[in-house]
Amino acid sequence: MNNLKILDHPLLQHKISLLRDKNTIMKEFRELVSEVSMLMTYEATRDLKLKEVQIETPVAIAKTKVISGRKLALVPILRAGLGMASGASALIPAAPIGHIGICRNGNGDSVTEYYCKLPVDIAERDVIVMDLMLATGSCASRAIQMLKDAGCPSIKYMCVIACPEGVRALEKAHPDVSVYCGALDEGLTEDFYITPGIGDGGDRIFGTR
Ligand code: URA
Repeated sequence: MNNLKILDHPLLQHKISLLRDKNTIMKEFRELVSEVSMLMTYEATRDLKLKEVQIETPVAIAKTKVISGRKLALVPILRAGLGMASGASALIPAAPIGHIGICRNGNGDSVTEYYCKLPVDIAERDVIVMDLMLATGSCASRAIQMLKDAGCPSIKYMCVIACPEGVRALEKAHPDVSVYCGALDEGLTEDFYITPGIGDGGDRIFGTR
């Protein structure tokens, strides 16, 4: 699992523990997903290129740095990835947000795409695609393929919780994509939930169960 980066910031780990708790209510869960996503975005953008600029402060000229290079786009995978977009976007407000809707068809591998709306200039941007859970990896792999088909040369995948099955599947399908997660759990249940995981992330964010 060469492409996997498990983010170990204490604040992130603490908040993920709160997310796992089955007694965490929808409002708190949603807020935590947003906060965790913000912290993860901070870590996943460590390698952004900088250039030196001169800025006139009220006191003097400062030689300082700003982000340079290709622009970013954020792409949450519906539905649970939507909960991550606000946190990521809070750190990168200039990044447009595309949406990809994909769902799994019962068994682990077959998926259906039902929505795709990407920024018109997506091929000129580096993309951070996000979903709450990396379970079987089938939705993530398809979403990344859709982005590659749209011309995106540089893609990072960000999820709060991953499992070995999903990471391996994603690495096999897209060895060029780095995976950022907050935790690598034990594996999958026979219903394709990550265990111990957090349960159904979409239901917990949107209160649908
Ligand atoms: N999606 C979820 O919401 N939870 C899981 O455990 C796996 C996939």
